[in-house]
Amino acid sequence: MATPSGEQPRPVRPLTLPSILDPQPSTRRLSGRTALITGASSGMGRATAALFAAEGADLVVTARRRAELERLRAELGGRVHAEAVDLTDRAAVTAAVQRSVAALGHVDVVVHAAGTNIPRRALSVLDPADWDAMVAANLTASFNLTHALLPSMRGRGGLIIYVSSGAALQADASGVAYQATKRGLVGLAHGTMFEEKAGGIRTTVIFPGLTDTPLVLKRPVPTPPEVLAKALQPEDIAQACLFVAALPARAHVPELTILPAGL
Ligand SMILES: NC(=O)c1ccc[n+]([C@@H]2O[C@H](COP(=O)([O-])OP(=O)(O)OC[C@H]3O[C@@H](n4cnc5c(N)ncnc54)[C@H](OP(=O)(O)O)[C@@H]3O)[C@@H](O)[C@H]2O)c1
Repeated sequence: MATPSGEQPRPVRPLTLPSILDPQPSTRRLSGRTALITGASSGMGRATAALFAAEGADLVVTARRRAELERLRAELGGRVHAEAVDLTDRAAVTAAVQRSVAALGHVDVVVHAAGTNIPRRALSVLDPADWDAMVAANLTASFNLTHALLPSMRGRGGLIIYVSSGAALQADASGVAYQATKRGLVGLAHGTMFEEKAGGIRTTVIFPGLTDTPLVLKRPVPTPPEVLAKALQPEDIAQACLFVAALPARAHVPELTILPAGL
């Protein structure tokens, strides 16, 4: 039927359900894609590396602890390259990214899960040196990674997923250094998207709530087991990263919040 302006409506493209529902290994969601995952020695980064490998991606896994990365590499098999690097060391990050790009050919997806917190986090006990270390580990490290990666991504395009925290959205007991640096990550992510989208770069910030990983052990007061029992699992964050990474390049998810339903 013609529209009021007299134009013929465009035919609706038929939805190809088999491509969505086919559970064959040939439809692994990251087949032929490459990913670099930071924080891969533990927690969310480790779980994301495992899921991305299972979904067919070629990987570079990074963290400081080489032994943990080698253990992960042995577990995952396939084409997994490990780069032991402290992300606060700018020169080392640049060199590691260059080796990663050489190993993978190019990097399609980055999941930046590396991050930390300090036990003495309340302002009343916060050592200014710890503030500096937190800015270096959670924020400057994220800039180092972004800055080193962008030259190889510009033009070809790519997705960078930054793992922030629910603490960046609402004040809590995680400490001002954690909250400020995780909030700073939001500025880095959105500013990078604004400046680089013409080159095909997309950025996403993920805000997880409490997740049962070794990071929780750094809390000054132990988390009660009944609370931890309701926390997210690192695999849940991995699934959120996969959801974003598997979308086509035309789709942009600026932010994704994932919280424990029962807390
Ligand atoms: N767990 C939670 O409740 C929660 C909630 C919201 C957000 N987050 C965020 O989620 C991300 C992942 O944390 P997680 O819970 O999975 O904690 P995790 O198990 O402690 O993992 C943190 C990872 O970051 C790496 N890392 C820390 N500092 C680094 C540095 N300077 N250079 C390179 N790698 C470094 C660690 O590896 P190495 O020690 O081997 O270097 C480790 O692989 C973090 O950004 C965290 O802030 C966590």
